[in-house]
Amino acid sequence: MLASGILGYSPETLARIVEGGAGAVVTKSIGLKPRMGYANPTVVEASCGLINAMGLPNPGIHEFVDELRETKKALSVPVIVSVYGYSEGEYAEVAQKAVEAGADAVELNVSCPHVKETGSEIGQNPQVLRDVVRAVKAAVKKPVIVKLSPNVTDIVEIAEAAEKAGADALTMINTVRAMSIDAETAVPVLGNRVGGLSGPAIKPIALRCVYSVYESARVPLIGVGGISGWRDAVEFLLAGASAVQIGTAVATKGPRVFRDVARGIDAYLKRKEFKSVNDVVGLSHHR
Ligand SMILES: Cc1cc2nc3c(=O)[nH]c(=O)nc-3n(C[C@H](O)[C@H](O)[C@H](O)COP(=O)(O)O)c2cc1C
Repeated sequence: MLASGILGYSPETLARIVEGGAGAVVTKSIGLKPRMGYANPTVVEASCGLINAMGLPNPGIHEFVDELRETKKALSVPVIVSVYGYSEGEYAEVAQKAVEAGADAVELNVSCPHVKETGSEIGQNPQVLRDVVRAVKAAVKKPVIVKLSPNVTDIVEIAEAAEKAGADALTMINTVRAMSIDAETAVPVLGNRVGGLSGPAIKPIALRCVYSVYESARVPLIGVGGISGWRDAVEFLLAGASAVQIGTAVATKGPRVFRDVARGIDAYLKRKEFKSVNDVVGLSHHR
């Protein structure tokens, strides 16, 4: 799947991702009201990835529903709408509007590391997270996926809270809190100063999160963080993910990264004589 936030919402852009071989797309996070996002620069290159602090720029769900209907018409794969809010009621309202406009599932962004009073401020607190997930579950009939933050002391406790509240699947991970400073000017580079690190640098962190949560989780896990080739994706499957998302590597490798990864997984399964991808999900726990 395409990870949230990498290529926005437009039907044309998302169609290119599907042509590249993605099995589903996740939209950029959408809230109840329009939001400008942060001043530039919003993205900076790091040694093994990107640091971004976009600030959740989005047109708001009321503007977005028409585009979502177009996207649904144009795409042959499931469209998952990423939702954020400042309260349980907001999450529920945005999710409901998204589903009414055709979303096949919603992914709750309770893990954005750089916007106050939403994102990881919700996903760091098991009680608050539980209330948000319950409210959304009561509001929609489609699957509710909860996207977790690595910026917590114990991700297993947070995952359990989401699952108990009714989450149908968990996505791990959102970006890791990070920053960049220019040595010449002494100025923090990002407009917001602090942002989130993505790309190959965070893959070992994401793998550890999936591996740890898999031990007690009873819902499917979706792995994301630093996947840029089939071998990365296979590592996530072995850790316990039953699907993966790709974000930063779309920027570096283009949309064809999805087909390359899918073909590589197929070739791996054949070479190792596995009958199905299900045979490798969580396999590293038994080794
Ligand atoms: C520029 C950029 C924007 C992002 N925007 C969002 C967003 O709106 N909502 C969200 O849940 N995650 C967002 N993310 C996080 C990604 O979906 C993903 O969890 C993270 O980048 C790790 O995957 P990757 O290493 O494959 O990029 C964003 C990441 C980047 C790089």
